[in-house]
Amino acid sequence: MERIDKIISNNTNLSRNDVKKYIKNKLIIVNNKIIDSPKIKIDPNVDKIFINGEILKYQKYVYLVLNKPKGYVSATVDNLSKTVIDLCPDKFKNRNLFPAGRLDKDTTGLMIITDDGEFAHNILSPKKHIKKQYYVVLSGNLDNIMIDEFYSGLVVGNEKFKSAKLEILSNDTCYVTLTEGKYHEIKRMFKKYNLDVIELKRIMMGNLFLPDDLDEGECRELTSEELKKITS
Ligand code: URA
Repeated sequence: MERIDKIISNNTNLSRNDVKKYIKNKLIIVNNKIIDSPKIKIDPNVDKIFINGEILKYQKYVYLVLNKPKGYVSATVDNLSKTVIDLCPDKFKNRNLFPAGRLDKDTTGLMIITDDGEFAHNILSPKKHIKKQYYVVLSGNLDNIMIDEFYSGLVVGNEKFKSAKLEILSNDTCYVTLTEGKYHEIKRMFKKYNLDVIELKRIMMGNLFLPDDLDEGECRELTSEELKKITS
């Protein structure tokens, strides 16, 4: 059971104050009964809620996919920069959305944004071995020897990275697949070879590829098939 004002504001772009006004004007109906207080508790899985005659589509959690552009930080708030949350559709603005994992400010590509903490924990936990694949452009030449070294688990200073897959595409471009997500992981791995990362784009999580219909900066809900692909 949850308060009616909270349910409505989480599932629409109405604020709690807006909901109060709707209630005053007798515009909120639950199971044929006019609601007269924002404090009334109902079961959103069972009870039918109408707002000004329109049925409310209740979703416990939302799962969004973003094609992250450069210049946005992977955080919910930031004093200086725009955040990935600024790119989410307005109708979800009353939810406590957060990015499931981080990409650097200058990294682009696939990012999942949700308000489901358990789901986020599951896809990020190194124990679950969910693959994250990146397209990388480097400042210099790759070498075949790196493939085995990445696979064995690179040691850089006193940091040991988990086994990673390196697929060389050209002299200076490759795919890297990780199952953990340490801070600046790919950039620090290539530093071992004195290579700088010039471009970094995440293209896959689990078995979900960055959808082709999403231009940079676009964000939409995942379909249930896409959602399953992340963990399958
Ligand atoms: N590795 C990095 O160095 N940066 C990212 O954003 C992701 C992986």
